[in-house]
Amino acid sequence: MRVLKVLFVLALPLTFLLLEFGAQTQTQSAAQDKPAEKPKDANDEGLPVTNQLVVDKCSSCHKRDDKGRLTRISYERLTPEGWQQAIKRMVRLNGVRLTPEEARTIVKYLSTYHGLAPEEAKPAMYQAEHRVVEEIVPDESVRNACIICHSYGRIISQRRTKEEWDLLINMHVGYFPVVEFQGFRRFPSPPNAPPPPPGTDMRHPADRAVEFLAKTFPLQTPEWNAWRANLRAPKITGRWLVTGSQVGRGRVYGEVTIEPTSVEDEFTTKTKLHFVKDGTTITRTGRSLVYAGYSWRGRSFGEKRNSTNGANAAVTSTTDPAEMREVMFVARDWSQMEGRWFWGDYEEFGLDVSLRRVDAAPLVLGIDHNAIKAPASAVQLKLFGANLPTDLKNDDLDFGPGIKVNRIINATSEQATIEIDVAANAAVGKRDIAVRRTFASGAITIYDKVDYIKVTPDKALARLGGVRFPKGYTQFEAIAWNRGADNKPQTPDDLNLGMVDVEWAMEEFPSLYDDDDREYIGTLSRTGFFTPNIEGPNLKRKFERNNYGEVWVVASYKTADARDAKPLTARSYFVVTVPLYVKWDQPEVAR
Ligand code: HEC
Ligand code: HEC
Repeated sequence: MRVLKVLFVLALPLTFLLLEFGAQTQTQSAAQDKPAEKPKDANDEGLPVTNQLVVDKCSSCHKRDDKGRLTRISYERLTPEGWQQAIKRMVRLNGVRLTPEEARTIVKYLSTYHGLAPEEAKPAMYQAEHRVVEEIVPDESVRNACIICHSYGRIISQRRTKEEWDLLINMHVGYFPVVEFQGFRRFPSPPNAPPPPPGTDMRHPADRAVEFLAKTFPLQTPEWNAWRANLRAPKITGRWLVTGSQVGRGRVYGEVTIEPTSVEDEFTTKTKLHFVKDGTTITRTGRSLVYAGYSWRGRSFGEKRNSTNGANAAVTSTTDPAEMREVMFVARDWSQMEGRWFWGDYEEFGLDVSLRRVDAAPLVLGIDHNAIKAPASAVQLKLFGANLPTDLKNDDLDFGPGIKVNRIINATSEQATIEIDVAANAAVGKRDIAVRRTFASGAITIYDKVDYIKVTPDKALARLGGVRFPKGYTQFEAIAWNRGADNKPQTPDDLNLGMVDVEWAMEEFPSLYDDDDREYIGTLSRTGFFTPNIEGPNLKRKFERNNYGEVWVVASYKTADARDAKPLTARSYFVVTVPLYVKWDQPEVAR
């Protein structure tokens, strides 16, 4: 609290500066210029605010001009999370009062009419999806000035005028003065240092970053102008089929029924998911809204949601959590959606999903096997889809040469159970499955041998917790690979054979001498699920260290054909660190 207060006091004088900055620079330059030549109004590109609630709630501080534009607000375009964050700060630090309903209306309006075009939003979706990715930051100054504190994803989720990128720098300096030393400014060279080579860019990293950002992420773009003309409420009610996967649990098939509400871009959902590997089926109900015509934010609830006790256990449940958040990108033609459904205190659990709309035509999604080793006889497999023929004959199915359909065990419109033989000389590779004239491309993989395995994720992070802060878990999985047609392992044509059962172990990562991390960081289960130890100094540990550490997570796989051959192994670099003490998360956008 005290820290916040200090920041607030520091921020007060800055407040007026940040709001008025635009107006001031203009009058200044107008005064300096020859009176006859009116300077080109940089603000001309701003987006008028047409929502009365925004005008009512924001224009007391953000002045409205004669074209209906509000200072600051009209010169930025943000994702729902971006608007939510800015508005939260208005409430927290700038004294704005809003009911949750008003905040929701404002975020919805601004995210849609001052939002991103789909092409702009797509590369930044991972930020909203809470995916752990290795970001590629093309600009060195942005890397030095910005990525030291937060993700590049947060930055590429925004579009601003040059002036707005400048003001963003000022906001940081005002609220977090240490940022100057941490990254924004270049330190002066010591007096006796040799002069830098001629042509060296002597500007501060923050100034260079702004130049890059203003050029790369401007307010006005062809994409946005094209999308504005197309903006409309999405027509997505109906039945959708889901394919997906969850690390450690494998493939998922299911369906989502989307129903309209009285508001045109808000929906209710009923979801059924079937986990192929362990055979569980879960059903959930949910609500969602679609921002800007394509950006789905929703929540779904498990059936156990009415039991209040044990709610916390349910949140970290790895299967059917009390609440799951949904972030998806709706295709422009409303035929597909893809994204991530996630949960957990660090959003570390999640399903990668892709949805396809079901109309009257048959649809083949895939099968329950990751891959089938040749030769094989009497393999039973399940085929998932929609509107499948129920009078299925052997000849209706085509798996390509070398695979013979023996019999159809049963066939419903959603699922068929089939028995096949795979010949010894069946070509290795990914094959399409055809059901009459409907194709599922690359839906079955035939292989001769597992050549190597890999661990996913190949670098991972977990967080200590359980006392004052939540634990951050990690699920590992091992994937089997075949060397592919070129006969060389670790090349692009290798075949992913899917998740396999392995033995898991942790090995010391030799960074500090004698720190015995393995003993302290936590436990790894037989299914590759890591539960971290508690946070805080451990008096039993050398130097009373915290329970953090780094290890290798090692998977060993005994291939089915050579039981006594040396197992295949793979490993992942794994860091267990302290809890995240401050989180910048905007779950409200899905409510
Ligand atoms: C009581 C005065 C006040 C009101 C009312 C107000 N703001 Fe602000 N706003 C500020 C100040 C001060 C700043 C500059 C400091 C900052 O960014 O926190 C600012 C900055 C902003 C920015 C720029 C942030 C950035 O990242 O560059 C946005 C966007 C914004 N406000 C949105 C809103 C919206 C939307 C509303 C109405 C719901 C609103 N504000 C109402 C005082 C206000
Ligand atoms: C010292 C750590 C730090 C550095 C360095 C830093 N940021 Fe931030 N940034 C923050 C914090 C903290 C917030 C959240 C502010 C809030 O909402 O209260 C933030 C918020 C933001 C936002 C959201 C703004 C909004 O209105 O909510 C953007 C965009 C952003 N930063 C971009 C940048 C860029 C670009 C740079 C580099 C020039 C940068 N940041 C450098 C800590 C940092």
